[in-house]
Order: sequence, then structure tokens, then C-alpha cells
Amino acid sequence: MSNPASPPAVGVLEDRPPLTFPPGFLWGAATAAYQIEGAAAEGGRTPSIWDTFSHTPGRVVEGHTGDVACDHYHRLGPDVALMAELGLKSYRFSVSWPRVQPGGSGPANGEGLDFYRRLVDELLGHGIEPWLTLYHWDLPQPLEDAGGWPARDTAARFADYTTLVADALGDRVRYWTTLNEPWCSAFLGYGSGVHAPGRSDGADAVRAGHHLMLGHGLAVQALRAARPTAEVGVTVNLYPVTPASDAPADADAARRIDALANRFFLDPLLRGSYPADLMADLADVTDFGHVRDGDLATISTPLDLVGVNYYSRHVVAAPVPGAEPEPYWRAPSCWPGSEDVRFVTRGVPVTDMNWEIDAPGLVETLRRVHEEYTKLPLYVTENGSAFVDEVVDGRVDDVDRLAYFDAHLRAAHEAIEAGVPLRGYFAWSLMDNFEWAWGYTKRFGMIHVDYDSQARIPKSSARWYAEVIRRNGLAAQ
Ligand code: FCB
Repeated sequence: MSNPASPPAVGVLEDRPPLTFPPGFLWGAATAAYQIEGAAAEGGRTPSIWDTFSHTPGRVVEGHTGDVACDHYHRLGPDVALMAELGLKSYRFSVSWPRVQPGGSGPANGEGLDFYRRLVDELLGHGIEPWLTLYHWDLPQPLEDAGGWPARDTAARFADYTTLVADALGDRVRYWTTLNEPWCSAFLGYGSGVHAPGRSDGADAVRAGHHLMLGHGLAVQALRAARPTAEVGVTVNLYPVTPASDAPADADAARRIDALANRFFLDPLLRGSYPADLMADLADVTDFGHVRDGDLATISTPLDLVGVNYYSRHVVAAPVPGAEPEPYWRAPSCWPGSEDVRFVTRGVPVTDMNWEIDAPGLVETLRRVHEEYTKLPLYVTENGSAFVDEVVDGRVDDVDRLAYFDAHLRAAHEAIEAGVPLRGYFAWSLMDNFEWAWGYTKRFGMIHVDYDSQARIPKSSARWYAEVIRRNGLAAQ
């Protein structure tokens, strides 16, 4: 609870030294199209899987949808002005596929592309570097009807769409990420079904993960063909996975979840192979017959950067026969083949998502990617927290969120000191928005949004972040 009278959940901000980040560090904030744009049926946009899903009763808390969201589609100018006020060096947004290519195939929709042209021009006009994500979960519904990500053809469709966007915006956008968090698209969308399209089949989830990565590889090639100077990467969501005890069975549970959550994506993307232990764990789920010769070479097409989204840590334990799984991870599971692994809570402070606050996990995660996988520049493309905010006299004093950012920026700095080439950090999120299956009930923004009036109020964390950017670091506390 963000109450000015209560201390921040991650600890007091006293006695912390000032820290300076490397020159040119890219300070940003992130959003995603379906979470903020609204205007769901305007300008030629057609439904995505998230429109269908959110309009299906029982799928999203309180029946919330992204129909209006933060109405950013109509408020682009004032929203970019707010970003400029905060001094953002970069803004990470996503392009809505069904806005620029209605239905997911065929020619581009000029009106949809114009919206992003205006956005990018507005950003550049304010000296803010645009960072474009091509896919933040809004698959055009007709492509889902044709099989969705478990179908191989969706990867080819994604590459075609990428070419349309690269042709339209490649002259003014330098930084590109193909996918946002393919784990969520595959395993929440097709495994547990808590995300769109809401299907629950372990083999489909594994196939979806593969075709998402194949689409990524093809999209990288399409981008390079259209814009050889583009800086291209992908964003993965990573978790340190820790066994709950020293018992070998708990260590094995951690190995299994690490394979599904992290190595399922890191290994193909950065090493060109699936981990052998992952394939063995999934033997009863799939024979990997969907993987064709050459796919892994395409998937591991060289990149210019890697984006890491970091929120929390998983602590896991071996199955207890007959025990009930944790409610969040209830069956159908997003962990095919490892459904009975237990997710353990340690009693440490959590956010309003019930996610444990674990800043050292960010250091571990960044070091692991750098030390085990790649020497490429890394960016934290998302990091942030939901807390219950209160508007008091027109102000939102979100001390918990501020403390979360402070702790994680200190962790980011520690990673840099340990040799990680971390080049930027994007706070999630610029503003409160549609938090997927939680609708508008979870607030992650540095800017408060009143969903009735659409009024924006920068919270204390936003003012604090503006100062961080201005100093290129953290002041002494
Ligand atoms: C990430 C998503 C982002 C937002 C945050 C809280 O998994 O990429 O859209 O929902 O979590």
C-alpha cells in the first residue's frame, strides 16, 4: 500500500551513496500498444487476440477491455510532452499489428502507420529516442483463427508485417525489438491460458514458443534487409530460479523451471540450440517434430543487443504427492511437463501483484546473460512494480514504487561495475494502464491515470526519476 505514512516495502532510502551511470546511459520508460492506445475500432484497426479475449466473459478481472485504455491514440501530443517534462532520453512503445496491417496479412493500413509516424516525429521533435517493439502480444485475430503461434505460417506473417513497419519507420527509428517476452505469449497464451488467446495445451505452448522465435529470426533478417543500420534485438523476461532448500530434489525442480522459463529462449536465440535437459523434460509433451532443419540457424541470426525484462525471482521446490499447486500456477499449467513443481513464497515483501521484491536478482540475471550467453550490449527493457496508489490532494506519493526503482537501479549499477555492458534502463511503466488479465486493477505507472477523466498526474516516483535522469544517477540519501 502506497501510504505516505508507511515506510517503503523495500527498505528505507537512507544512507545510500550517490551513484553515477556511464555517459550516454539510455534512460527510458516503456508501454505497449494494447495497454494504452484504446481506439480499438478506429483508423482501420481490426481485432487482435486481446480484443477477443478481453471481450470474453470471465477472462479479464471485472470484464475490463483495452477499448479505451489510456486513450493514448487521441492524446499522443500531451503524452509525449509529459515524457519530455520527465526528461526521458528514450521511449519504448509497441506497434499494434492489427492497426498497421488489419487482419494480419496484405498491404499496410496507411492510417495506422500515420499514427506511429506522428508518434515517432513527436518523440524526435522532443529529443526522445524512439524504441520500437514489433510484437507486444496483440496477434491479429484472423491469424489466431488460422492456428495462431502454434502454426508455422504465423512466423512468416510476422516477417511480412515487420517489412511493412521497417519500410514506413526505418528512416527514423534506430532501436528495434522484435518480440516482447515470448515466454508469456507461448506459455500464458497457449499453456495456462490466462493470457490471450486463452488456449491450454502444453504441446501447443512449446510449438508457439518455437514459432515465435522463428518469427523473430525472420523479422531480424527482414529488418536488416530493409534497414541495414537498425540496432536490432529481442526482449526476454528472465527470472533467477532458486531451489527452496539444498535437497537434490529441489535443485532438480529449479533446473526444470529454469529450463522452461529462461533457457527455452536464451539457448536457441543466443546459442542456436535447445537445451538437452529441457527436451528430455518435455519428452512426454512433444517430440519437437515441429523443429525443421535450418530453424535454429534462423532463430540465432546475430543481434545488436538483448533486452531483459526483470520483475522477480522464482523459488521452487520438488513436488509433494497429492499437494495442491499454488493458485497462481494452478492447472492448466504454464509449466508443461513440470506441472507439479511447487512455487514457494519466502515471506519477503511483495508488490500488489504478489511478486517478491528481489533487487539482487537483477544483478544475477544480467550477469548470467553476459557471462554465460553473450557479450552484446544489454538493456533492461522493463522493470517496475504495481502498488495500490492513493490520490491525496491531487498528488500520488508512491514511496513503495520509488523505493523499488531505487533498489533496482542500484542493482543495475552493481551489474555494470561487475562488467555487464548495460546501456539503458526502461521503467515499466510510463503510465498506469491495462494490466492484461488484471485489467485496470493493477497500477504500474510513474504517471497516474484517472480512467474516467483520463487526467494524468505524475507520481512522486516520476518526479524522482526525472531527477535521476537529470543527474545521470542516484543522489545520496
Ligand atoms: C510484463 C509485460 C508488460 C507488463 C508488465 C507488468 O510481463 O511485458 O506488458 O504487463 O509485465
